[in-house]
Amino acid sequence: MPQTRMKKILVTGAVGQIGSELTMLLRKKYGNENVLATGRKTKPSEELLNSGPFEYIDISKRETIEKVVTDYDIDTMYNMAAILSAVGEEKPLLCWDVNINGLYNCLEVAREHSMVRVFVPSSIAVFGPETPRDNTPQETILRPKTMYGVTKVAGELLGDYYVKRFNLDVRGLRYPGIISSETLPGGGTTDYAVEIFYKAITEKKYTCFVRGDTVLPMMYMPDCLKGTLDLMDADVLNLKHHCDFNIGSMSFSAEELATEIQKHIPEFTCEYRPDFRQAIADSWPRSLDDRAARKEWGWKPRYGLAEMTKDMLQKLQKRHEEGSLLVS
Ligand code: SER
Repeated sequence: MPQTRMKKILVTGAVGQIGSELTMLLRKKYGNENVLATGRKTKPSEELLNSGPFEYIDISKRETIEKVVTDYDIDTMYNMAAILSAVGEEKPLLCWDVNINGLYNCLEVAREHSMVRVFVPSSIAVFGPETPRDNTPQETILRPKTMYGVTKVAGELLGDYYVKRFNLDVRGLRYPGIISSETLPGGGTTDYAVEIFYKAITEKKYTCFVRGDTVLPMMYMPDCLKGTLDLMDADVLNLKHHCDFNIGSMSFSAEELATEIQKHIPEFTCEYRPDFRQAIADSWPRSLDDRAARKEWGWKPRYGLAEMTKDMLQKLQKRHEEGSLLVS
């Protein structure tokens, strides 16, 4: 596989929760002009627009990817565009179109342009109710019950297929719920773990859409970004896996999260009114065995529940005081 220096990077889904922060980090690392941010229709932030190139593309329309890859001479891609689990249940065809047809288009364009490397995120949504839920193994039963999960299993297999069949260097992680202070997530089952912080700051109360005893694996954004870049920098010769790494960080129940927030905001209260997302959460792991990621490319998370909660509240409180905390 080609090992030349990465120079021109395309980020799809750059207006999304992970894509927006990933783009800024990549711009810092590789130079603003070398990282093209793209989105489908959501308006990008001023920060994203003013710090480097931005284009609208729709990954389900291959020619739109083709155009920017040619125009900007792209050799590395982070395909962060996706429809998440909750919206995927409301719009299963859209979920398939973006997550599968879109991914296929990205991989095909990458292959045709002999790209150096492609990042394709996967998710804990690849697992299902038959999977062992505690310390979920790397190799285990993948029988998800959501359209999102179906697309993520197929995406892992498709990525691995391109590695074997076409020698394209495709890599990916099974992200847990990602908690971050900059851009809100959109349409996922783990969104409560972010919303709760915004509501704790602005209203001192939150109605959570899963039960208090719901435990899911979660991760703070700095660890998510570090893991993503570290995997992309890893020596390909050390990788036995490619598109399906389990990565664990912290696991807690919704109630434990509320209690942690109360240590900083004692008047905060949380009530629980589960909706259709409870069944999705109940089909996902509580914790993950990530020894393969630790061994093959040195994965090591930094943040636990206490540090993450303190940092989230500090950041959001500051923005609230400045009047720039936007709540959905
Ligand atoms: N955060 C995602 C979701 O809830 C999981 O990958 O859909």
